[in-house]
Amino acid sequence: MRVILFAGKGGVGKTSMAGATGTACARAGKKTLILSLDTAHSLSDVFDRKAKLLDVNQGQPVAVADNLWIQELDVQRELFAEFGEIHEYVTRLLAATGQSEILAEDMAILPGMEEVSLLLKINRYLREEEYDVLILDSAPTGESIRFISLPSTLEWYMKKLFRMERTMVKLARPVVEKLYKIPMPDDSYFAAIEKLYNQLKGVDTALTDPRITTVRLVANPEKIVLKETQRASMFFALYGLQVDAVIMNRIMPEGVTDEYFEDWKKRQKEYLDHAKKYFSPLPILTADLFRGEVLGVDGLTALADQVYGGKEPDSIFFKKKPWELSKGPNGYEMKIRLPFADKKDIRLHRSGEELILTVGALKRHILLPRAVAASPTVKARFSGKHLLVSFGAEAP
Ligand SMILES: Nc1ncnc2c1ncn2[C@@H]1O[C@H](COP(=O)(O)OP(=O)(O)O)[C@@H](O)[C@H]1O
Ligand SMILES: [Mg+2]
Repeated sequence: MRVILFAGKGGVGKTSMAGATGTACARAGKKTLILSLDTAHSLSDVFDRKAKLLDVNQGQPVAVADNLWIQELDVQRELFAEFGEIHEYVTRLLAATGQSEILAEDMAILPGMEEVSLLLKINRYLREEEYDVLILDSAPTGESIRFISLPSTLEWYMKKLFRMERTMVKLARPVVEKLYKIPMPDDSYFAAIEKLYNQLKGVDTALTDPRITTVRLVANPEKIVLKETQRASMFFALYGLQVDAVIMNRIMPEGVTDEYFEDWKKRQKEYLDHAKKYFSPLPILTADLFRGEVLGVDGLTALADQVYGGKEPDSIFFKKKPWELSKGPNGYEMKIRLPFADKKDIRLHRSGEELILTVGALKRHILLPRAVAASPTVKARFSGKHLLVSFGAEAP
């Protein structure tokens, strides 16, 4: 299955592009599902459905054209149905915390339950292989950061934390509960977590595999939008997701000659040029500002025709990996693409088999492959686009 995630600032046209791409894939004969990850669903509106999908069919897929289904997930329902125990504990924990420092740390590593339930759904589609293409319409950048960081933290969480946490909780429960009045999870919580992880297995590798999943960043040729798009492209790289195109949407067509729009047109041109340079070698796809809102299958087909022209909408437009690990004569070198990071914002910390990379407020734990974990970190340098981390020869 092919997975395409649409991301970007609020209002730039993510849902429209997800809809257009889905429509085009379906028209090309691919069985396609567009899944809305935004809790403020607008997919049914874009497809001009009168009733909200959630109300008519409880968040199940609905056919909107030949080969094409759309789905607005009822996250709360998913959560309660299968992971009541976990949710119950997290709720108790939140209710009991006056945000003590230890707990704030814990919360940061405990994956957000909503995001987990989205991953779970995605994994089910990946395993069932009923659809050829899965299109994900995500929430605006800021709100989806946690979702994006999750696939890359899952493995780390499973390997390191689960075992340790369980032992610790067993030992600490009586003391902690008495002293701090913080509820500790019981065994059913851990059983539920274990089941959850089994059902999540593989979703992290699928979402960070550039042959399966790519991200399309949607933007408008405007200053503030571009800034956020640059930032977004940085954190996708940080979390190991492959961006394969930037879609510049709402470009004033040449045919508009009204003097009132002259300044808009001039600025848009500048920002478009700037974006082409900035994101190079990523391809930039474009779409005009339409005469009205883009609605329904016909409108979305017209939008897709502009964006993709003759290209296949589900092809992978850019294939360079965000990570590379190579072995040279002096040991291993890890090359991490961080296109828009500022050197002063980058922090690297090594703790045993883990590399902890922080860029501004974003943090990623990288679990090193065994061979690399045996070697000490020798040096790290930032080339402007790549962070190069060298590891010494394997320990004797
Ligand atoms: N190229 C375009 N021309 C005209 N209107 C557009 C275009 N792209 C999106 N829109 C309109 O802009 C609004 C926001 O688009 P939407 O796809 O919902 O954005 P997002 O999902 O990023 O918040 C919608 O009313 C949509 O019809
Ligand atoms: Mg949207």
